[in-house]
Amino acid sequence: MPAVERGRKLYEGKWKVLFETGDPARVILRFKDVPDFDRTVARPKLPRRGAMKARIAATLFGLLQERGISTHFLELQGEREMLVRRLEMIRLEVVIRNVVAGSLAKRLGMEAGTPLPVPVLEYSYKSDALGDPLVNETHIQALGLASPEEIRAIREMAFRANGTLLPFFAEREILLVDFKLEFGRHVGRLMLGDELTPDGCRFWDRATRERLGKDRTRRSPAREAAAYQEVFRRICA
Ligand code: TMP
Repeated sequence: MPAVERGRKLYEGKWKVLFETGDPARVILRFKDVPDFDRTVARPKLPRRGAMKARIAATLFGLLQERGISTHFLELQGEREMLVRRLEMIRLEVVIRNVVAGSLAKRLGMEAGTPLPVPVLEYSYKSDALGDPLVNETHIQALGLASPEEIRAIREMAFRANGTLLPFFAEREILLVDFKLEFGRHVGRLMLGDELTPDGCRFWDRATRERLGKDRTRRSPAREAAAYQEVFRRICA
């Protein structure tokens, strides 16, 4: 299929850019190699990051779609772009956790690395001014972010995505510790949007528990790049 032409820029964030296409129902999502604040850096710390993210997101969204979980993904385009359905985004970050890590360890005083007896689901209200506070389902309704039916669908899709991704990663010797999803509406239909890449997931090697992909704790740029490339290899090779 010939590449869809890029139109006007709709949005530019730290790591991605959205462009219009000739079809109002479709947009192009381009992953950047370097965030804006790093533009002065002569060489990206992680070469080809944008291309790796596009391939990983396409693989994971493709897998979820095969299992009947709707996503905005339509097709890869070029090296670092995806053609996606245009969504009206719901201002929530939906996190699913299988193992204690990060903010959960801090907030509840649980030891990082402890397997959770049930997957834990958390919602945060996307608001820079408020620092993305945790909210529950009644807050989501009270804030008018989503209807009760939509909240039920979000919860169900998030757990089903986890149920699909866990074995997919386990086969690749990756422990899916936690990950973040975002949802939106396309012609009134709820679907997964945004990205599903190492930048929104915690991956550990199943055997060594070494952090793969992105890590919030500081590592040398070379080790960071090697870990990201290793995740890419295991998912896409
Ligand atoms: P946390 O332990 O820092 O709350 O992160 C949980 C998961 O959510 C982790 O896989 C990273 C992801 N995440 C994002 O993608 N964006 C964010 O802004 C935050 C806070 C977390």
